Amino acid sequence: MSFSFGFTGDSDDEYTSVADPAPKQEDNFINPLDCVPSNVYPAKEVDLKQALNSLKSTRVTFETYVTPEGNAVFRRELFDVKHQVMMEDDNSTDAEVTDEHKILIGTNATDLVKNVYEGGLKSWECSVDTVDYLCSMQDETLFKDRIVELGCGTALPSTYLFNRALRSNHNNLGFVLADYNESVLRLVTLPNLIVTWASTLEPEQLIKLQRSEDETIPIVPDELQLTQKLLDQFYSTLQEKSISIRLISGAWSRSFLELVNSDNHQTGLVITSETIYSPETLPVISELVIEFVSNAKALGIVAAKDIYFGVGGSLVEFENYLTKRQLQGMPIQFVVNKVNAGLKRSIVLVTNN
Ligand SMILES: C[S@@+](CC[C@H](N)C(=O)[O-])C[C@H]1O[C@@H](n2cnc3c(N)ncnc32)[C@H](O)[C@@H]1O
Repeated sequence: MSFSFGFTGDSDDEYTSVADPAPKQEDNFINPLDCVPSNVYPAKEVDLKQALNSLKSTRVTFETYVTPEGNAVFRRELFDVKHQVMMEDDNSTDAEVTDEHKILIGTNATDLVKNVYEGGLKSWECSVDTVDYLCSMQDETLFKDRIVELGCGTALPSTYLFNRALRSNHNNLGFVLADYNESVLRLVTLPNLIVTWASTLEPEQLIKLQRSEDETIPIVPDELQLTQKLLDQFYSTLQEKSISIRLISGAWSRSFLELVNSDNHQTGLVITSETIYSPETLPVISELVIEFVSNAKALGIVAAKDIYFGVGGSLVEFENYLTKRQLQGMPIQFVVNKVNAGLKRSIVLVTNN
């Protein structure tokens, strides 16, 4: 399945959703979080320090992408990710070269391979919509303790918020970035956060950090040399500002939820973009959003195309799911904001009532 970027004139339009005829309340409801198939990657915390170490001496090439509303976000170039994966695989035994890696270095990175690779390498359109949506929101609404991005991939929304927090001195925050694939978190999500942080430094400091091991290293605007010093400085900034970054890989499930909730933070914001495309996992991602909204009173932001042709998920299905859970007594409300009516994309705000 592939989708392309393509923005037409954005017209924002809001309606409170009354979904198709509401399903009848089910007495024997089994929470989809509790019945995730066994052939998926289990939820796992990825150690931040180890992930940073694995990037040492890497030269990251990135693109600065400016959203329709003029927000600059940074994302590592796909060819650069593939290059790193190939180099790492060259140094591994055959047994260590995972199916996941084989797909990551394949020619068509837009493929989704069910339960193996779920599309996190590229930035999907709704993540850009989400950045522009977040840009219109107040700091007080956004920066409430823990920010969770589910199915983050390149994590443009989180990197936008991270950038904003760093520049406006919003400290004491916990970011949880979750993606099905550990490789995506390590090779794309984390580098994008580092590049975002680097963009907030004074130019002289940035040059010094990049040249700390080799004075002759060329300094190029869209490349970043990840020296030990630069990585250490990134980590120290997080500590100084009491900003925690946690990376969680693996499938959404009850144990995934417990892992997210296992730190000292309380989720204030949960974001997810282009994750309701699969009819099988739509109920699971919906339940996660419902959990955070109903238990932690978080604000939920779900960005999606209205229809996922060829795969089956849709906005209406998501609305129907939320309506069903409302009827079953979950204390949630939702409002659908239409984004760019021509391309039929939406941002759904889910709140506690
Ligand atoms: C289509 S990509 C969207 C990536 C990113 N949010 C964006 O909009 O650019 C879907 C994302 O959801 C994640 N995902 C899909 N199914 C998942 C599952 N069952 N458990 C955990 N993550 C999942 C994938 O790893 C992937 O990053």
